[in-house]
Parts: sequence; C-alpha cells; structure tokens
Amino acid sequence: MFTQINHKHQKHIDLRSDTVTLPTDEMLDAMRLADVGDDVYGDDPTVNRLEKESALVMGKEAALFVPSGTFANQVAILTHTFRGDEILVPESNHIVQHEVGSAAVISSVQLRTLPDLYGVVDPGYIRLRIREKDIHYPRTGLLALENAHSSGTVVSLENLDIMTEPAYKAGIPVHLDGARIFNAAHVLGVEASQIARCADSVMFCLSKGLCCPVGSILAGRASFIERARKMRKLMGGGMRQAGYLAAAGLVALHKMVKRLSEDHENARYLAQLLDSVREIEVHHEQLKINMVFFSVYQQNFSPSKLVDYLLSHGVKINPPMDGSFRLVTHNGIQRENIQYVHAIFKEFFF
Ligand SMILES: Cc1ncc(COP(=O)(O)O)c(C=O)c1O
Repeated sequence: MFTQINHKHQKHIDLRSDTVTLPTDEMLDAMRLADVGDDVYGDDPTVNRLEKESALVMGKEAALFVPSGTFANQVAILTHTFRGDEILVPESNHIVQHEVGSAAVISSVQLRTLPDLYGVVDPGYIRLRIREKDIHYPRTGLLALENAHSSGTVVSLENLDIMTEPAYKAGIPVHLDGARIFNAAHVLGVEASQIARCADSVMFCLSKGLCCPVGSILAGRASFIERARKMRKLMGGGMRQAGYLAAAGLVALHKMVKRLSEDHENARYLAQLLDSVREIEVHHEQLKINMVFFSVYQQNFSPSKLVDYLLSHGVKINPPMDGSFRLVTHNGIQRENIQYVHAIFKEFFF
C-alpha cells in the first residue's frame, strides 16, 4: 500500500522528526562487536574513543558522552553556573521551550529570555541584560545559543561572533546547543569546529539525523569536562557498558555526517512539491536544513483531520505548533516517499 520504506523495521513514512531515525546495519554490527568496559570507571575503550574523536571534531580539548541532548544542555548549565545565577538565552531556544524548565529544577538558575528571530538576538539586548555587580542582582552566569536553530534556520558565523562578543567582554561563558551542528556546518560550508569556536562548551546530538539510537556529546575545555563528568554522575547519567552505544556514535561521525546534505536536498524537494498545493504556504525563509515548515489556508481547516488522514495513509506528522506544521526529512525518507506524501496531501485537499 505504501511506497517503499527505507528500513525493515519502519512501518510508516515518519516525518515527525529526525529523532525517529533507526541505526543503520553498520551501526548495529558495530554495536554487537563493540569492545566495552565500565564507563563510570573510565575503562570503556569505545566510549573513550568516541569522546576523543568528538572533542577533535568540535575543536575542543575534551568531550563527554551523555544520554540525550537535553541532558547535555542541562549538565552544561549545571557545570557553568552557581545556584541563583541568571542565564541569557533567546526565548525561542530549546532550553526555554522544550526542556521542561529543568534549568530551574536542576541548577536552580533563572532563565532571562531574549527576544530573537530564529535564534538571532540584537547584541544590544545582550549587552543591556548582562548584570552589573549589585547586591540586588543575580549574577549573569551564562549565555546559551543554538545552531542550527530548531526553526530550521542556521545562524551565521558573523552573527555568532556579534552575539557572543558582549558576553566574552564581561567574562561570561557561552554554551552552544548544537543538537544539529553538522546540519548547520553543511549549510555554512564550514567545519563544525568553526561554529563551535564561538562557545566555551558545545553539545551535539548523535540520535537525530545521525541515526544513533541514543546519545549526545558535550565538548569543552578539559577542566570543564572533568567537572561535567562529575555532574553527569550526580544527575544519574553515569552509564556502564555504554560502549555499545558509543560504537554507533563512531559510525555516525565517520559515515553519517557527510550524508546530511541529502536530507537538506530532500527537504527542498518536499517543499517544492508542496508549493504546488494551493492551500499550503511553505515558509521558505525557514528552509535551510532538513525541515519544512508550512501553514494551511483553507476555510474550516481541521489540523487534526489532516494528521489523521495522513496517518491512515501511512504517513506520520506532528500537529502544528503556533500555527505551523513541520515535516522533517532524514535517513529513512527517500525521494519516492516524498512523492507519495505529496500525492496524499493533494488527495486530502482535493
Ligand atoms: C535544538 C535542540 N536542542 C536540544 C534537543 C534535545 O535533545 P533530546 O531530545 O536528545 O533531549 C533538541 C531535540 O530535538 C533540539 O532540537
């Protein structure tokens, strides 16, 4: 009934996120054959190798393997800040929108949100919100940025420099949520390390477009990562034979990074086909990585009817957020799947 699905375990064309990607056969083989130890004792050779290679790729002294992107951001915040600190962060960023307010719970810090457009903030706002020394004020403990941004856009190196300059001038560290830093690097035509250079610490996810089942990396100075390792243990993130997971991470770094541009091309192809559906307006200004955002203009349109119709035809999408739908391309999505999805959209609006 459905067009060819890329992976034997996939039953749907799943466009909800790139987090739905499944490990490749090469990853599964590498996992099964992984040389492992107990990573809390520091003697899992595969984790150690993944951390070493990740640090190198990010241009940092050291790296730490953690269970998720949220975990990486939160362990970074806990390591950078003191209780009662204030963090400056663009208001649309993942740390504000999708991490359950955990910075308040785990690190006892408050988020001071900055008005932004796709993760870009006027540096004047940053400058103005850096706290002076005053008995009434919290300390500004961190500036946190995001690239690629979860709106599907990419922040330029120039904008990263402009935004971080006031923080560095004031001696405030910078953390970069680089969940999709390799997607951003493809778009900017630079190495990921050139993006990571703007920040003291950077995290990236192995379990999104890179197809690992689990895992993210936090990278930074050796002394920072040493403290973060202890904080990871405090947060319950000390994993034992984690080499089985790290083995997939190594395949991701060696093989999957370079294919991300295929996902970007497929997103553009999907957007181009959706452009032909009269009721759909694709947000082309957000079409930079593997995400297609669009709105629907039709009288009495029911978003849930569209979601249900697609599902009944084997296509999974999320309901809209703030009026926009988001479709995400990834390793499990081929051009023929996109053509099929387009046909189902056309059928729905017919
Ligand atoms: C920009 C960004 N940061 C952090 C995360 C969190 O990653 P995880 O789902 O692994 O916790 C995500 C997840 O989608 C993300 O898009």
